[in-house]
Amino acid sequence: MKLEVKPASPLRGECTLPGDKSLSHRAALLAALAEGESRIENFLQAGVTKAMLRALGGLGVVWRLEGGSLIVEGEGPSRLHPPKQALDCGNSATTLRLLAGALAGANVRCVLDGSEGLRSRPMGRIVKPLREMGVPLKAAPGDVAPIQLVARREGTSLRALAIDLPVASAQVKSALLLAGLGAEGTMDLREPGPSRDHTERLLASMGVEIVTEAQAHRVRLKPPDSPLRPLRLRLPGDISSGAFLIVAALIVPGSDLILRDVGLNPTRVGLLDVLRKMGARMDILAQTEEHGEPKGDLRVRASELQGLQVDGPVVVRMIDEFPIFAVAAAMAEGQTVVAEAAELRHKESNRISALCRELRSIGVAIEEMHDGFVIDGGRRLRGGVHVQSHGDHRLAMALMVAGLAAEESVVVGGVETIEESFPEFADILRQLGAEVTD
Ligand code: S3P
Repeated sequence: MKLEVKPASPLRGECTLPGDKSLSHRAALLAALAEGESRIENFLQAGVTKAMLRALGGLGVVWRLEGGSLIVEGEGPSRLHPPKQALDCGNSATTLRLLAGALAGANVRCVLDGSEGLRSRPMGRIVKPLREMGVPLKAAPGDVAPIQLVARREGTSLRALAIDLPVASAQVKSALLLAGLGAEGTMDLREPGPSRDHTERLLASMGVEIVTEAQAHRVRLKPPDSPLRPLRLRLPGDISSGAFLIVAALIVPGSDLILRDVGLNPTRVGLLDVLRKMGARMDILAQTEEHGEPKGDLRVRASELQGLQVDGPVVVRMIDEFPIFAVAAAMAEGQTVVAEAAELRHKESNRISALCRELRSIGVAIEEMHDGFVIDGGRRLRGGVHVQSHGDHRLAMALMVAGLAAEESVVVGGVETIEESFPEFADILRQLGAEVTD
């Protein structure tokens, strides 16, 4: 499927965003581990979270959708059934990695599998530490999916880990914390950077003793003696989806946009921090908190941007935002350098090379580096081309936004992948005044 995006007139108005993807995954899974009925409002209904729900159904978890809410009848980890078939995690690495940890902790036999794309994502990062905890598991050669969790022998238990993790990854950290719920002793994890901490915040709100030292990127979890309390919450809009609209409003002259109720967790707002340094006019109009998660209304106005250097701890706080950040950098005056971001090569596509290839064809002066890219910004974007999503939802949306600022229209192929995280994207763009056609 393809979509054509025409150079845009100003984007104006306000919108609310679908629920946060990371929080939706975690809330669904944790609700299944809790005892009692959980109600999660503004649950993201998209490809990746459907994969999580499908997998939970395969484990015997009873859930239903009522309008925008997910209701889960949690019965605790001991009531999860070993599924008869492999659990299909689709394209969702979060589903696979979080389930691997949770099901290891709950000692559920299963096979975790997914699409060809998912089978090429690195799983050694969870396989190795889970094995260290005593989880009997098998992975396909090269430590990739399918991953098989074999039942533990009677009388054996999991050992808690005290470990320095080699990559800052919320999926790895969360998988280990979830496994730690069923281990003996206190898990003590340190990361090289500040990965998103939604699992920690939700677990704390469900009654688990969990201590985070944000400065040291350290978290300790004590396995609970009593069942997890069910969840009752409304999820904030996904800042990572909002990022596409934020950059669109910044680069299309005359735009003025308000995003309502968007998540503002400090481990997720690296893009906002960097854009502000570049000169972006963005104001938080109101800020509140629910289940420990800050959220607020954000106003964004078209702005003159300046290029800069991005590296260090902010990289993980904006890890999903680099495709759209590159579009902002292309429109900024001067040079932008992204470094220490080699993790981008392990996402839904190799985001460094795919991004460089597609943006170059639109007219961006971008050079690939082993751990990032360099953009000479402020040149005109020619457009008038057909570009490809590489099966990557975030690349597809970033290229569409680039089309809004180009001189001629841009056709983006493979846009069906947008359904993985933000099915409403094209409709919202249209509502705000953009011309997007099939
Ligand atoms: C996610 C963590 C990040 C992110 C992904 C969602 C999560 O992945 O890129 O979109 O929900 O934990 P990594 O943990 O692999 O960095």
